[in-house]
Amino acid sequence: MKFYGTSIALTLLITLKVFAGPIHIIPQPESMAVLQGQFILNRDTVIIAPSRLTDYLNNQMAPATGFDLKISATPPQSNYIHLQIIADADSDPEAYNLTSTPKSVNIIALTEAGIFYGIQTLLQLLPPEVYAKTRQNTAWTIPAVTIKDTPRFKWRGLHLDVGRHYMPVDFIKKYLDLMALHKLNTFHWHLTEDQGWRIEIKKYPKLTEISAWRDETLIGHARNNKPWKFDSKRHGGFYTQQEIKNIVQYAAERYISIVPEIEMPGHSLAAIAAYPELSCTGGPHKVATRWGIFKDVYCAGNDETFTFLQNVLDEVFELFPGKYIHVGGDECPKDRWKECAKCQARIKAENLKDEHELQSYFIKRMEKYINNAGRTLIGWDEIIEGGLSPNAAVMSWRGEKGGITAAQTKHYVIMSPTKHCYLNYYQGPEENEPLAIGGNLPLEKVYSYEPIPKELLPQQVKYILGIQGNVWTEYISTPQKAEYMAYPRVIALAEIAWSANTTKDFPEFRSRLEKHLQRLDSLNVNYRKLDK
Ligand code: ACM
Ligand code: ZN
Repeated sequence: MKFYGTSIALTLLITLKVFAGPIHIIPQPESMAVLQGQFILNRDTVIIAPSRLTDYLNNQMAPATGFDLKISATPPQSNYIHLQIIADADSDPEAYNLTSTPKSVNIIALTEAGIFYGIQTLLQLLPPEVYAKTRQNTAWTIPAVTIKDTPRFKWRGLHLDVGRHYMPVDFIKKYLDLMALHKLNTFHWHLTEDQGWRIEIKKYPKLTEISAWRDETLIGHARNNKPWKFDSKRHGGFYTQQEIKNIVQYAAERYISIVPEIEMPGHSLAAIAAYPELSCTGGPHKVATRWGIFKDVYCAGNDETFTFLQNVLDEVFELFPGKYIHVGGDECPKDRWKECAKCQARIKAENLKDEHELQSYFIKRMEKYINNAGRTLIGWDEIIEGGLSPNAAVMSWRGEKGGITAAQTKHYVIMSPTKHCYLNYYQGPEENEPLAIGGNLPLEKVYSYEPIPKELLPQQVKYILGIQGNVWTEYISTPQKAEYMAYPRVIALAEIAWSANTTKDFPEFRSRLEKHLQRLDSLNVNYRKLDK
């Protein structure tokens, strides 16, 4: 963006000074300079904008300030916030510039999304109490600054597994609000699992009558508690199509695109418990009550499997307008396929080498369907095995190798390696933390992640679309615990995703974060406290 020509040296100098002072913006903006004085927000402040974002801004500030600001088409002499969309061919659609003076606050951007991110920064320039849901008694001042800001990556993602544990609609909305606050723009909603199917599909009512419920749930860790004990409590739930439409709209109002995940061919036990004819053995199967990988999966030799999944996707396409459809593809045991006459017949008929190529056949066939609907398939890095679908994007989770291979062959990639992005891992010594799946991922290690692998040539770098944090919920049964596992680590990921890597400095980030956590306090977020 080239709205202002601030010298980099000067900006850097002032930026350093500012971070010792009262401004703590997360993620770190591209550049910032402090000017003289401050803007005072009061009940007479006017918002100038031809944009629906005026309501958003008003609604964000109203509970804490008690102000219902007037909207006007033209600026008065002073005391106004001006949201302005301007054409600038050079600018990134998500970039914005913000200038505050004693007279006004001006946010300019190419698109509404850019204005939206400018508003997030504006809110962070106000006292942290602005995020509170009840009236606060404080002076609503905004320091005079000029900020120029552009995201580093296009895909700034956060995932939530609602298959292992259903999470209520209100929590999904809070999750989205927190994403927006951190300038994240992609919510990967993991909707189907062995332990539960969470999306209403009108054509297949048994998915919500049967697949959405399990009889009981394992107590403790699956690894070292044999014989397993169960809690005897039925668990489940699903999102109606009306609820999903509402959530998609809520996300869109926050410039967040939702990527739905419908898992195939593995992690499908809940679905085949309701429709056993889609499995190799014909069942019977039960919705899983413990964690792990299960051998019973969709039969790849049965055309009805594809009809079923295509019909499911037809309803998914209607509900989710975004570009990407996630089909999972991870952790699919091939045991049943090896024994299944239909699967073996398919391997023969399609001239496939083995069951890995059969998985690849499965994903390619689904990809054709998804592409015909004008969408793009994305899957976990196992979709590379046996041959990657022609237009597919890859989510690299078992390290970066899959992502590197995909980028080298001109496929788009989301980096989400377990070592840096799995927010279900422990964030401190196990003995001090609530039960987690394993691993060790303290905040500083998240922050240290650099998503562009050294192995890539300059012309391959563009295939790394961005990064994503994953919140798998085997050992996360409540929204409170999901928040505890996600925050503050999501904030470190958000900064990697948005900010330039040239200014990365963990102690400096940590001191900004300390102040930032006051905002999360105002929002009642159950984040893990920072280590002393
Ligand atoms: C995964 O964690 N199985 C993608
Ligand atoms: Zn089969």
